[in-house]
Amino acid sequence: MWTEEHVKEISNIIKGKEVNLSIPAIKNTKFNINNRRYLGSKYKLLNFISKVVEENCENVHTVADIFGGTGVVADRFKAEGKKIIVNDILYSNYLSYWTWFSSEEVDYKKLENIIKDFNNVVVTKENYVSKHFGGTYFTEDNARKIGYIRECIEQLSDSLTFREKAILITSLLYAMDKVANTVGHYDAYRRKLDSLGKLNLLVPEIDGIKNQENKIYQKDANILVREISADLFYIDTPYNSRQYGDAYHLLENIAEWKEQEVVGVAKKMVDRAHIKSDYCTQKAPKAFEDLVSNIHGKYILVSYNNMAEKGVGRSNAKISSEEIVEILQKRGEVQVFETDFKVYTTGKTNIEGHKELLYLCKIDG
Ligand SMILES: C[S@@+](CC[C@H](N)C(=O)[O-])C[C@H]1O[C@@H](n2cnc3c(N)ncnc32)[C@H](O)[C@@H]1O
Repeated sequence: MWTEEHVKEISNIIKGKEVNLSIPAIKNTKFNINNRRYLGSKYKLLNFISKVVEENCENVHTVADIFGGTGVVADRFKAEGKKIIVNDILYSNYLSYWTWFSSEEVDYKKLENIIKDFNNVVVTKENYVSKHFGGTYFTEDNARKIGYIRECIEQLSDSLTFREKAILITSLLYAMDKVANTVGHYDAYRRKLDSLGKLNLLVPEIDGIKNQENKIYQKDANILVREISADLFYIDTPYNSRQYGDAYHLLENIAEWKEQEVVGVAKKMVDRAHIKSDYCTQKAPKAFEDLVSNIHGKYILVSYNNMAEKGVGRSNAKISSEEIVEILQKRGEVQVFETDFKVYTTGKTNIEGHKELLYLCKIDG
């Protein structure tokens, strides 16, 4: 039974909603370094990391983040005025470091115009990306656009500096992450394609801090440590058998743009040998020992979480807390710091009591 009163009430509610809907959505025009999903990102732990260094280390002017991932840790140290060395085995991350940490001049107006054109383009022709990743990881429309834009960037290479090209690719990779039909990594796509948002590239929000001496690498960290020195080495290796080159194969594929053959349901590039990490295998303790023994610096700070032997399947850590301490102690005195951190394993188990740990080693001599 509806009375006049009810009808009035409902129409008022509808009117109110219409007003809300007519407010134009505030669209972000820029993106920041942390605006992406990344397994093991330490973005939420930055204050903890920074505090441990501030309160326990002296004369740290240079920090080497040699398993950099998103680069958020290096970015924090950079903001604190330190010179940074940043490295990752993945090319997609290397390009993003060029975006955030290089001091090379950039013509932002030019990039803004290119990005505007990219966002307005309508692509009807099939390409490498739409052929392999359309209708699964991305809508057909977004996939066609990704393939088209990436090829355009390649064609524009001669009129771009390396950093400008890196910025355009990074902008594309961050935009892809926003519309990918995944749970944040590319080991699989979600069966139901319901990530229907339109691909929208943004311009990076780059701070004005220009440090001419920052160094950017894409190397195996075990090789790199033999070539560099820094006051503090921050070490955040993969924890388990999950290879980052597998989890982010699609971003890597677009970054490299070799239009490689892809295999399996997840459509991974055939050749991923160059991005395989020993830290995801039984070799992890040996690799870690080799790494630590070849570091030239004053401090080593290692991130770790207490999931060893607690998680399920491949969530199991490849190196134990005891092994880390034992190896670090060969270089000097070790202190351990911990914080609670609510995290989910790759399965659905939410393991209570999960702590994020930092091991700080003050190198002897
Ligand atoms: C736990 S993640 C780092 C996360 C990062 N601290 C952040 O906050 O985004 C580990 C990273 O190490 C990289 N990696 C794995 N093995 C490597 C190696 N041997 N040398 C250099 N980087 C490696 C992976 O590609 C991944 O980005």
